[in-house]
Amino acid sequence: MTIAEAQEQIIRLKREHGICILAHSYQAREIIEVADHTGDSYKLSVAAAGDEKSVAIMCGVRFMAETVKLLSPEKTVYLANADAGCPMADGLSAERLRAAQAKYPGCVTVCYINTTAEVKTLSDVCVTSSSAVKIIRAMPETEILFVPDCNLGAYVAAQVPEKTIRLISGGCPIHAAVSADDVAAARRAHPEALLLVHPECVPDVTSRADYVGSTSGIYDFAVSSEKKEFIIGTEISIAEHLQYARPDKKFYPLTKKLMCHNMKLTTLMDVYNCVLTASCVREADKQITMSPETIMKARRCIDEMIRLGGK
Ligand code: 13P
Ligand code: SF4
Repeated sequence: MTIAEAQEQIIRLKREHGICILAHSYQAREIIEVADHTGDSYKLSVAAAGDEKSVAIMCGVRFMAETVKLLSPEKTVYLANADAGCPMADGLSAERLRAAQAKYPGCVTVCYINTTAEVKTLSDVCVTSSSAVKIIRAMPETEILFVPDCNLGAYVAAQVPEKTIRLISGGCPIHAAVSADDVAAARRAHPEALLLVHPECVPDVTSRADYVGSTSGIYDFAVSSEKKEFIIGTEISIAEHLQYARPDKKFYPLTKKLMCHNMKLTTLMDVYNCVLTASCVREADKQITMSPETIMKARRCIDEMIRLGGK
């Protein structure tokens, strides 16, 4: 089967069987092309909730499929490659979070959306990388335990100095591996380019950037800026997608290290096989399942984010 043939079959089957395909922006081009919705994890869960199709396939990592299920409990949800996990989300267990909460009893717990559903059940407010600064500013509380990304947390703390933000160790191993030396090398190689970086990078890197923002923030900034060259400090596929969106501009990955192997685990044939599963047999053991209690408790921190004006 060729890529084009697989794409044709996927599109035919998803239409015939009412299946909605969600692709995170770190997915490969050939997957993005067959998706109904693309973007960051929260945008995808909101899009799925607003989509009338009763089956959703997430091309991304497990916490993203869980978030789709939390916002659409009535839908049948699949993760296209069941082995795709996020080391940041998986690195924070409920036990570790409870220990941190016991250490900082006066704090409200704010969790990044990159967390398991179980961790969300123990959190007060959820945030995305786009909304973290805005939500934490809008919260009436001044003592905050921010989990699990200490780099995003440090970035928020610098933007909202009026609050006390407690952090624990944890974060994205891909973004956190970028160093100030990588920045210096990229600046030397592309002296005319603006440097755009994700707040999951370490403070040594974010403090040297011309723009710090979420994946969609970086994308929108680069597309609409009058400048012509950009060094992209987030997962490597964003530089590639930007190059398709604006062939007249130049986009350079900040470093080759910025590749998320979990995001790249999903192949077009995984999507094809998942569409077959979803359309023919709907195998129960491959679906994302959670107890009604977990859904109810984990949703609360997402509803609180929405109430505080986040997205
Ligand atoms: P955003 O797409 O929300 O910026 O998050 C980046 C990320 O690392 C997703 O796993
Ligand atoms: Fe997790 Fe980082 Fe990969 Fe995103 S890029 S899925 S945060 S490991």
